[in-house]
Amino acid sequence: MSRSRTQQEAPAGYRLGVCFYPEQWPRDRWAPYAAQMRALGLTYVRIGDFTWSEIEPNAGEFHWDWLDEAIDILAAEDLRVVLATPSAAPPPWLTAAYPEILPVDKEGRRQRGGSRRHCDLASADYRREAARIAGEFAKRYGIHPAVSGWQIDNELGDHDTGRSYSPAALVRFRTWLEQRYPSVDALNDAWGAHFWGQRYTDWSEIDLPNLTTGGANPSHLLDFYRCSSDLVAEFLTEHAAIIRAHSPNRWVTHNFMRFCDQFDHYPAAMPLDFVTWDSYPTGGVEYADVSLAEKARWARTGEPDLVSVNHDLYRGMKPGTHPWVMEQQAGQINWAPSNPAPADGAVDLWSTQTWAHGGACTSFFRWRAATIGQELTHYGLLRHDETLDRGALEIATFALDGEELVRAPRTVVLLHDYESLWIYDEQPQCAGATYWKQFMLFYGALRGLGIDVDIRHPDDDLTGYRLIVAPALQLICQRRASSLASFAKSANMVFGPRTGFRDLAGKVHPDGQPGPLEPLLGCRLLNFDAMPPLVSSSAGGHPVEIWAENYRSTAGIDVVAYDDGPFADSAAVVRHGNCLTIGAWSAPLIAELLALELRSIGIEPMPLPDGLRRVDAGTRTIWLNFNETLRRTPTGLTVEPVSWRFESRRKD
Ligand code: GAL
Repeated sequence: MSRSRTQQEAPAGYRLGVCFYPEQWPRDRWAPYAAQMRALGLTYVRIGDFTWSEIEPNAGEFHWDWLDEAIDILAAEDLRVVLATPSAAPPPWLTAAYPEILPVDKEGRRQRGGSRRHCDLASADYRREAARIAGEFAKRYGIHPAVSGWQIDNELGDHDTGRSYSPAALVRFRTWLEQRYPSVDALNDAWGAHFWGQRYTDWSEIDLPNLTTGGANPSHLLDFYRCSSDLVAEFLTEHAAIIRAHSPNRWVTHNFMRFCDQFDHYPAAMPLDFVTWDSYPTGGVEYADVSLAEKARWARTGEPDLVSVNHDLYRGMKPGTHPWVMEQQAGQINWAPSNPAPADGAVDLWSTQTWAHGGACTSFFRWRAATIGQELTHYGLLRHDETLDRGALEIATFALDGEELVRAPRTVVLLHDYESLWIYDEQPQCAGATYWKQFMLFYGALRGLGIDVDIRHPDDDLTGYRLIVAPALQLICQRRASSLASFAKSANMVFGPRTGFRDLAGKVHPDGQPGPLEPLLGCRLLNFDAMPPLVSSSAGGHPVEIWAENYRSTAGIDVVAYDDGPFADSAAVVRHGNCLTIGAWSAPLIAELLALELRSIGIEPMPLPDGLRRVDAGTRTIWLNFNETLRRTPTGLTVEPVSWRFESRRKD
């Protein structure tokens, strides 16, 4: 799979920006704001998202004057505009005229307007109107010298709107299935529809997989998620083409969300020049599946790996390009269960972390705290009263502005796959056994060993990597297995629990786990143990929680660790050639085994204290301390609380 083709790259060199809503402020404030943005060292200003009703207050009646003026004012200060198309907020006159634009949620309820993302990508009326308004924006500003690039829409999938359960979505799903399967019988076979007597005789009998009495068939779910996901990719492809037709030499992107599971982001990223995402570290940790103690510990900084995994994920969507953070938390936010004030230094630290992980720009959310609407308690660079908040003070002295990142090529890669994520989280079989939690056991272990990693799709070209780690690759077909086997000729491989449990249709392989990966792994699954809270087990002398597996050999494996729990003396970790299979959820065991793997390929791990992370930036190492107390690096440097510093590396 190759996804690196880009049309228009953003300029190299790290920049800062801000998200600005001129329509929310008196016109006489725009010029002083623009001057202040420039004085703060900002380069980019994103505007336009949610402005449809301001631009077109009635069908066909356009009021461009204010946006013309806003762009000109920003241009006069040499600020570069990122123009967002406004399709995330269809105006009330539009949804009144075409009520079926409003999406239907999983509970079958037609949603209302009055907020945003009240739009169904499966609605032909919405698609026509969204394409029309994007075209109007692109025609008007496509060659404006101040417009550097475009953001299509805003956060597709936000507010759980990535999947619609509307009548239009049903029509589309049936058509999608007809194109995918040669016959209804082929679908019956692929889904195993005769389980619980659901054999279909006609396409029209197939429904959406919501509102079922018991659990829906996982193969049915998987196909519906694929179909919904294709709609997102189709939308982005359509809008990228519309913009490009009128806006030569400008880049086109979209702002994805952290840990968003609503669609497969790899195909969605294809039509974009590079990817951006929105980072809210303190909100992220509030919603993370971590203990209350962990939440408290990282309340004011966010947890470093939970942030950086998104940087690494989005960088891997379009190898060779530099992602942006389009919306960076700049102060207090409003939407998490609690919204603690970020620590002093956190905004600087987050911005630096973005750079260190290969980002090209951090654009802060938002310019000034809103005095109207739904986000009144969300801070920005300016407080309500226009005084500079902590984020603005921190970026005023930001050290990396314009600096280009030099990155050593990564030798370690983790494989990530949205389809495995969907099926994993649909049928976890154990409370707390989520895809991301399992993924983070491996990602966190590697980062804690001081290792920089890439994240790539399992069907990518993995040439050049020397350690390939597949933490939670549940879906495996023969083609994928053969491809992984070919990379195993030149790399060590590590596989996590439940690898290869299912085929791509979501069914278990006839010979069980790991299906066609068995010749590579040299083992088959015997049993799994899915443990409730407060129940634990042990493997290789380490505590195990939530999930444990044991294996039997099919091809002369070495047992690396034995189960010390209910599968007493059976194999919990096995090696076959250069492939290691780890069946136990145990952070210390995984870290110990990964350290051995790294050493075996000539990389010496550097175990780090919690919350202290390092990134290899060519001739320098950058140290990031997310702790609210001082930390000492293994190399003997002191890093201040919630701070970062460079360390020069000797050139040999
Ligand atoms: C994002 C969204 C922004 C704003 C922000 C608040 O998800 O794109 O428009 O709502 O959250 O944190």
